[in-house]
Amino acid sequence: MGAVTASAPGKIILFGEHAVVYGRPAIAVPVTQVRATAEMVPAARGAGFVIVAADLARRYRLNQARRDDPLAAIVRAVLVRFGRTHPPDAVLTLHSTVPIASGLGSGAACSAAVARAVSAFVSPSAPLDDDAVNAVVYDVEKLHHGTPSGIDNTVIVYGRPVYFVRDRLIESFRVPVAFQLAIADTGIRSPTKIAVGDVRTAWQADTPRFERLFDGIGALAADARRAIEDGHPEELGPLMLANHRLLRQIGVSCPELDRLVDAARAAGAAGAKLSGGGRGGNMIALVDEGNADAVVRALKEAGAVSAFITEVGSNA
Ligand code: PMV
Repeated sequence: MGAVTASAPGKIILFGEHAVVYGRPAIAVPVTQVRATAEMVPAARGAGFVIVAADLARRYRLNQARRDDPLAAIVRAVLVRFGRTHPPDAVLTLHSTVPIASGLGSGAACSAAVARAVSAFVSPSAPLDDDAVNAVVYDVEKLHHGTPSGIDNTVIVYGRPVYFVRDRLIESFRVPVAFQLAIADTGIRSPTKIAVGDVRTAWQADTPRFERLFDGIGALAADARRAIEDGHPEELGPLMLANHRLLRQIGVSCPELDRLVDAARAAGAAGAKLSGGGRGGNMIALVDEGNADAVVRALKEAGAVSAFITEVGSNA
């Protein structure tokens, strides 16, 4: 068994977060500027399976990992798929540039990279295909996030834009005219599970109101898909602003996110919204060649700890 390396990109949700948990459509695209990379290197016989979470400066043995350790969970899930009762003697090293708990899909990206590396290591001639990796990553997402819709693992594993409706076949779609987004991080770590749980409590307290809000978000996602496929990404700006307003009403924005949305608009972005679970993490803004630099500058001045440009449609 030789050394193997595998990776997976981050992602952003363009439209439809939260409502997607309740069966409405959502659009997500991969973000290739951030990435999780896993490497499997053989170790001496009897050395056991060691996990190195390089960014967290943690090194531990698989058989001593805590029950809720997410990396151990994905390794075990892959080994079970291959009927392996004993882990191989190996060192798994994970590096990731996807910020944690920020709406860029860190958990799913790390899981996908690990699943690919471990499967290629234990079964070089027949590693797990994308469908199997997607299934195994989703199982682990469920373990850690309660009721994930499955959108994160889907966009990250297949690495292409997706129009996602829970429990339906995955739909990819065309992006004939590429467009640019600024992605900016509030620096506030906000676990998706908590925001999703709070939305559920509020939905239980006033189901008709939340169903209406989710319907509104779903309709925006459907309109956005049409605009993208018709080659009119410039129409996304107002749709993003409308989606952000609905997310505020659902209770998942926060002053820092609202400030970045306002700053992006003031600097010329045609639209902006929070992206992902909310309450912190990242926001996105629709920019063009003419205003991209100014928007990135304005986002940093308004408190973003990082801001960069990604292109949708060129390499996806
Ligand atoms: O915070 P993220 O990037 O994991 O996005 C979560 C998206 C939600 O719709 C809020 C939850 C889900 O499972 O789809």
